[in-house]
This record gives sequence, structure tokens and C-alpha cells, in this order.
Amino acid sequence: MKRLSFLFYAGILAGAGAFGCSSTPTERIGIIGAMEPEVASLKEASTIHRSSKIAAMEFVECNLKGHEAVVVQCGMGKVNAGICAHTLINVFHCTKIINTGVAGSLDAKMDVGDFVVSTEAVQHDYDVTPIGFKKGEIPYTGLVAFQADEGLRALAVSAIQHVKPDADVFEGRICSGDQFINTVEKKDAIVESFGGLCCEMEGGAIAQACHLNDTPFVIVRCISDKPDGSAIVDFEEFSKEAAEVCAKAVQEMIEKL
Ligand code: ADE
Repeated sequence: MKRLSFLFYAGILAGAGAFGCSSTPTERIGIIGAMEPEVASLKEASTIHRSSKIAAMEFVECNLKGHEAVVVQCGMGKVNAGICAHTLINVFHCTKIINTGVAGSLDAKMDVGDFVVSTEAVQHDYDVTPIGFKKGEIPYTGLVAFQADEGLRALAVSAIQHVKPDADVFEGRICSGDQFINTVEKKDAIVESFGGLCCEMEGGAIAQACHLNDTPFVIVRCISDKPDGSAIVDFEEFSKEAAEVCAKAVQEMIEKL
């Protein structure tokens, strides 16, 4: 009888292991990039267990630098990014979320090739002011900005310094919206309302999804362009390289987790 029950429990544990669960809660890192160059090297560096498609996004379950991870290209924009983060947390049971990619500079001190690590993220196109909310406030949360995890932030800063010692690393607010910011006027409008170091199109939604699901996150971005008349040319010229170096920094981060 004793032997039978031992076999029964051993079977359950083996089954759970096969599905990525274990008796102690497993740490699993979700890594989100919007575009292919933002995730390609992460997939290449990992040992892939399996891939599955949800909401037209390929979720790649893998081992990366000795850690269980799920790498996914979410596509551009906040809706994609929010769906993606929610799926990583609730379907793939990710316990931490890292968003990697490129961004436009909002601050003259930030140059192409510099890095931003989020202290917090806002959605600069969120505007319910006509019915009494603050600019950017997500109704009924009382919040304009969602705070990044301090441990992940520190890890990101030191990983970037290790991978790209000549790059400047800034920590601060990231402003997200469903717009590519390519003029000084659009940039100035964001800065006037929200301040912030850089603009991109996903981080704020990932931050909100993580907040709603009580999951720590950090956004790591490398500057690909300065929103002015040449933003599109800069983006075309520098975004691939900026995306790749950012992914490298995230790999280094995972190694140090
Ligand atoms: N991602 C990279 N550059 C950007 C910009 N200028 N606006 C929005 N998202 C970006």
C-alpha cells in the first residue's frame, strides 16, 4: 500500500514537472519585445521547450541562461502589449516581466545608443480629463504611473553597464502611447504633461497589466531616435542595432537573476 501511494505521488510530481510546475513555486521570466530584432537574439540564445500561438503572438517557452523564461514578440502598440503581459502572467505563469526594445528620446541629454531603465511608466495618450480625472490617470486606480520593481531595475542598470560600458544609462519615467512620435511639437506636448525620459508604444500597457496582476516588471529601452524632423530616418538607421544591444543587456540580466 505504502509503495503504491509513493508511486502515485511520484507520478503526480513528474507530471507537474513536465508542465513546468514543481512543488515549490517556479520562477519564470516573461520577456516581451514589440519587433523581431528586439527578441531574435533572446530566442537564439535559449533552449526552446515549446512554442504556442495565442492572440497571433508566438509564446516561446524556453530556458535562457539557466532560467525558465517565455520570450514573445507582441507587435506594436498598447493593446498588443497588455494582452501579451496578461497572457504571460495568467497562461504561462510568469512571475516577473521584462520589456525590452527601442525608444525615442524625450530629453536633450539622451542620445541615440543611450539606455533608459524605467522607474515608472505612464500612458501619455490616456486622457479622461473631461470627466474630472488627471491627465494620464487610469480611472478608478487613482494612478497615473505604474512603478517598476526596484530589484529588476538595479539588475538592468548593472547588466547594461556590463554589456555596453560606454553607453549612458538613465533611470526615470517612460511615456507610452499608440503613436510614433516624430515631431518636436508632439514630443514637447508629452514632456509638458508628463516629463519623462523616452517615448515608446508598449511599456505603459505592460506596466498596467503587471500592476493589475500584482507582478513585478521593468522596462529596458535603448534610444533609437530623437523625435524631431529626422526621427524616422534615425529609427530606420539605428533601431535594429539599438534593439539588439538592448536584448543583449536583458540576456545579461537573466544570467544575473
Ligand atoms: N519607438 C522608438 N522610437 C519611437 C518614437 N519616436 N515614438 C514612439 N515609439 C518609438
